[in-house]
This record gives sequence, structure tokens and C-alpha cells, in this order.
Amino acid sequence: MRRLKVGVMISGRGSNLAALIAACADGSVPAEIALVISNRADAAGLDYAARAGIPRALIAQNDRRAFAAEAEAVLGRHGVELIALAGFMRVLDTGFVEAWRDRMVNIHPSLLPAFRGLHAQRQALAAGVRFTGCTVHFVRPELDAGPILAQAVVPVHPDDDEERLSARILAAEHRLYPLALRLIAEGRVRVIGERVEIAGWQAPDLVAFNPCEPLVSSAD
Ligand code: GRF
Repeated sequence: MRRLKVGVMISGRGSNLAALIAACADGSVPAEIALVISNRADAAGLDYAARAGIPRALIAQNDRRAFAAEAEAVLGRHGVELIALAGFMRVLDTGFVEAWRDRMVNIHPSLLPAFRGLHAQRQALAAGVRFTGCTVHFVRPELDAGPILAQAVVPVHPDDDEERLSARILAAEHRLYPLALRLIAEGRVRVIGERVEIAGWQAPDLVAFNPCEPLVSSAD
């Protein structure tokens, strides 16, 4: 099967990059990570790319248009067909975002459109929601907006702090992003009128309650 060539853009830890690399390597996703771009030389995620033998590009340009021009050049050289943002912490040039319309995805640690921007997990705790999660969406110029491709739901526990909740969401991210990439690589995904249609996939048939009934009553 033909493998979709993906460019991943990171700024830091790179755990989602690692999940995507693993999913492409074990054959569950018909894609290959053809390039990793970082805007920071000290991004720990660059090590995952190095260990997997994936070409890396450091683009430290602060100017948005200059960054976009360098990125276009290197993406073109490596034949990248889809960009996956994975903890990429810079705002991209609008022209670049438009040029990659419906060919660039992002993962965000909330159920969008709730809790856009930084510290989505902290925002969820402050709002007191019982469920949050993560979202893979196509990128639009507006921050953390764009057609939603896939979401995973994560419960908020009564004793959660930001660290515990973030870890629970991150574990879901590492499953959701490879799934989303697989759907795209298999050619099942179409954006129609700012909504995403997925061919041949079902939604789960479940209702989750939080709080849910305790097995043993705490009043006893
Ligand atoms: C993730 O929580 C992702 O949702 C957000 O940035 C974080 C990146 O983590 N956009 P990592 O670098 O993939 O470990």
C-alpha cells in the first residue's frame, strides 16, 4: 500500500511524535514520518526522530513569513503531503496555513471547541467539567479551531490536579493521533463545509456518567 508522507512539527517533548513514529513503524498506519521540523534546538522530541533515522530540520526563525518560507522549502524537498502539528508552540503564518488547508492537522488537549489556547487542562479543572479529553482537527488560521476529525473523552477525577489530568489526557492523545492519521492515510477523510466526514467508521454506542454510582456506598 502507498504510504502517505507526513511532516511532524514539534517544539518540545515529542511524546505524540513518538506515538506516530511507532504506529507508522508497526504497520498499523499506512504512512511514514518523512520529516520532523522543530523551531527549538533543545526540543527533546528531536531525539525520537534521530533514533528512528528520520530527517530533522531546525527552523529557529522568529519572523513568521521567513519561518514559513523555510518550512515550505524543506517540506517540498522531502515530498511531505500532510503536516501533523504535535506540541508545536508557534503561531504559523496565515498564508502558510491557507496553503496547507485540509492537509495540516493538530492535536489539542481538550474537547474543542472548549478550552482553546494554553493550559487547556487547567482551564478544564477551573471550569469543573466532569469530562474533558483531546481533539485532532484540521488547522485553520484561528487558534485551536478547524474541522474536528477525532476526539477522545477522558473523565476528570475528584482528586485531580493539573499533572494527573494532563497525564490521563496524554495517554489518550497517544492513541487518538495514530488513529486520526490512519483514517487520513487510508483515504477515508473528507472535509465538507467545515465538517469532517469519515467513510466506513462507526461511533461508539456508549453513555458515560461522571459521577457514577459507587460500588460501595461511602455513607455506610
Ligand atoms: C500535547 O498535550 C498536545 O495536545 C499539545 O501539546 C502537547 C505536546 O506534547 N498540543 P508532546 O510534545 O507531544 O509530548
